[in-house]
Amino acid sequence: MLLAYLPKFLRNVLQADRAPTIAEPAVNLPAVEEPALEAPTAESAEETVMQTVLQKVRPYSMVPDSGIEFLIRSVQSLFDQQIEGDFVECGVWKGGCAAAIKLAELALQPDSQRLLHLFDSYEGLPPVQPIDGPMAAGWQQAVDSPWYFDNCAASLEVVQQNFAQLGLLDARVQFYKGWFETTVPEFVKRYPETKIAILRLDGDWYESTKVCLENLYPLVSEKGIIIIDDYYAWDGCAVAVHEYLGKHGLNHRIRSIPDFSSAYIIKQAHREA
Ligand SMILES: C[S@@+](CC[C@H](N)C(=O)[O-])C[C@H]1O[C@@H](n2cnc3c(N)ncnc32)[C@H](O)[C@@H]1O
Repeated sequence: MLLAYLPKFLRNVLQADRAPTIAEPAVNLPAVEEPALEAPTAESAEETVMQTVLQKVRPYSMVPDSGIEFLIRSVQSLFDQQIEGDFVECGVWKGGCAAAIKLAELALQPDSQRLLHLFDSYEGLPPVQPIDGPMAAGWQQAVDSPWYFDNCAASLEVVQQNFAQLGLLDARVQFYKGWFETTVPEFVKRYPETKIAILRLDGDWYESTKVCLENLYPLVSEKGIIIIDDYYAWDGCAVAVHEYLGKHGLNHRIRSIPDFSSAYIIKQAHREA
């Protein structure tokens, strides 16, 4: 009953999860006065969506909740603003962030024809280079650390299984297996007209970030969002971002999500207000 109060976005998510209604047995119980229920506010409705999506994707992502929440809000915002384009993630691991994009999209616009392009080696990170910094080198050497995650390896089969388990595997999810240095330029050569609404970069290192920026940034729509997951985490990623913006003389601001766990850029030619 409470569902009637909720925006469509929320209803789609919640209704997908509801168990079939079971008829109550016909017994005559004394009437009980129901406590008055307060209609949920827009904020509480949004919070419920967040929690539902987060709970579903949590096992498949190493990104903190704040980053996934920001991603869901980004999907909502680009639908609100009618920013055109597909979704792209470079650095998928087990597919949690990618699944969050898809779940948010389904909840907001079930008939959306946008594609979700997922680039990864599906065999883990390439070796750290000196430009990635001493912390990155230390991380890759510490193979027994609980944060090593098998060098962030997850096979294509595992990711596809995860998507299937969440009911998200369909023809609009495209997987590109191999090193970004090959797959990303090949993609652009093959589909030069692609427009991107959200570009999520999560490839950790300098070279991985650089090749994605060089090839995919030009395809991002005006007011599209580029999320740089590792901007604060790894030195090389930050250098790649600064180099790219500097080299192309771009005024696009680097912004932080509230807890500084990742950064993002809104691709906007000029400040408006
Ligand atoms: C930190 S994980 C991604 C985390 C994921 N987005 C999540 O939701 O948890 C980094 C991923 O980037 C991939 N990767 C990094 N550099 C790459 C490259 N040059 N080519 C292909 N894959 C790369 C790794 O295989 C790994 O799956």
